[in-house]
Amino acid sequence: MDIQKSTFRGSWEREDAMGFNALPEFAFIGRSNVGKSSLINMLCNHKGLAKISSTPGKTQTLNIFDIDGKWQICDLPGYGYAKVSKEKRFLFSNMIKHYLEQRENLICLFVLIDLRIPPQTIDLEFINWCGESSIPFSIIGTKADKVGKNNLEETLKIYTDKLFEVWVELPPIFVSSSEDKTGREDILKYIKECMKKDK
Ligand code: GTP
Ligand code: MG
Repeated sequence: MDIQKSTFRGSWEREDAMGFNALPEFAFIGRSNVGKSSLINMLCNHKGLAKISSTPGKTQTLNIFDIDGKWQICDLPGYGYAKVSKEKRFLFSNMIKHYLEQRENLICLFVLIDLRIPPQTIDLEFINWCGESSIPFSIIGTKADKVGKNNLEETLKIYTDKLFEVWVELPPIFVSSSEDKTGREDILKYIKECMKKDK
């Protein structure tokens, strides 16, 4: 599956303000700066579609992108951004929580983890919450270009070992790089399969 046309549909601060939409939706989440917006641009082959910044906390709303008029992407704010006030951080998590729990057309949530660093408690806790809350999710390890091919397998094993401490079965795990487009084909193929299954 390839993408011909990707366009920005809008930004929302609350799931209930978004309105019902029947198009299948795929959302991207992870700690601030993990590379959510970059990955969306890479998948869509569309530089500048989602706003990118080297300063964490760039994406602060639920941003929806229309893909070929057939499906949608939601770029979510990062979690674990400590520099915002307590009140704002609380709002973030409620916004994300409501979106994930209420969004009827959400087919799959991609949880992004930064492969350059060891497994982070906040990511593991979030993944566990997804499992417990029956949110359909998959995992994408980002910034693979910074890990090096030889270290990739070992890096992934550290993550899967950590997850197997809690779970007996793991969702699909992809590896990506927005720099060299690693993972693009596999992730788009998976999205296509998910949409077929949903029909
Ligand atoms: P927030 O919106 O702040 O939550 O961040 P985000 O997760 O959307 O991250 P974003 O895509 O804005 O990228 C953050 C930084 O990481 C930017 O400086 C990107 O250029 C860099 N980055 C993202 N993906 C990759 C990647 O695959 N490889 C490398 N080397 N850098 C990346
Ligand atoms: Mg972003």
